[in-house]
Amino acid sequence: MKRRSIIAANWKMNGNLSLITEMIIGLNEVQLAENVDVVVCPSFPYLATFSHLAQTENLQQSIHLGSQNVSEQKSGAYTGEISTDMLKECAVQYVIVGHSERRSIYKETSSLVAQKVTQVLDAGLTPILCVGESESERENEQTNAVLSAQLQPVIDSIGIEKFKDVVIAYEPVWAIGTGKTASPEMAQETHRFIREFLALNSSDIAAKVSLLYGGSVNAANCETLFAQPDIDGGLIGGASLKVDEFKIICSTTKG
Ligand code: PGA
Repeated sequence: MKRRSIIAANWKMNGNLSLITEMIIGLNEVQLAENVDVVVCPSFPYLATFSHLAQTENLQQSIHLGSQNVSEQKSGAYTGEISTDMLKECAVQYVIVGHSERRSIYKETSSLVAQKVTQVLDAGLTPILCVGESESERENEQTNAVLSAQLQPVIDSIGIEKFKDVVIAYEPVWAIGTGKTASPEMAQETHRFIREFLALNSSDIAAKVSLLYGGSVNAANCETLFAQPDIDGGLIGGASLKVDEFKIICSTTKG
């Protein structure tokens, strides 16, 4: 089975109403390969606007809406939190979970991340589960151990079979927002490790999971990164805020 390629835009705490409009109009002009899905993840206040505009502008079917985070709770007295039901009402289909900024700045543990993945799947949404090592962890050759420790609690909590509905984004922390992209060979080697780690539980599921690379991906480096056999697209931060550059990344991606 051919895996779907996914290009996800993580706007972080950036963007505004005019960028939403520009992006929808711009993306509607892109000729996407058949097997490619695009996901745009703006901040919470813009989700409903995005889905409304996507309808009025007749946005192409393979462009989807995602959120950058979600609560691990279903509903209730959790001031400031956003539930999966709320996201669904805004036509969200994907949810970024466990981004390294959530893990490091907001102290999200791998077990909390696992609870969020469970909540997202229970709601019928697709989690984009982020994993990745820091610079010192890579220097100390701990990359594989760190990735295993981030993945295992999710496997324990949802079971390997449900990974068929999970997208994984490998984002080396040292490459995020720094301009220091992992070389295609290094990214491929780590993606292969992640697939092999999943295959310890089920080679069938491992072969089906879309693995995205993230960390300073741009229009100039995306083609060689996405050409690697175990890289099925990207999670794009800075370059996804520039409509023209993001359009190039989307149109360069082969299915
Ligand atoms: P970047 O961010 O593309 O700006 O490095 C990627 C991410 O954090 O998802």
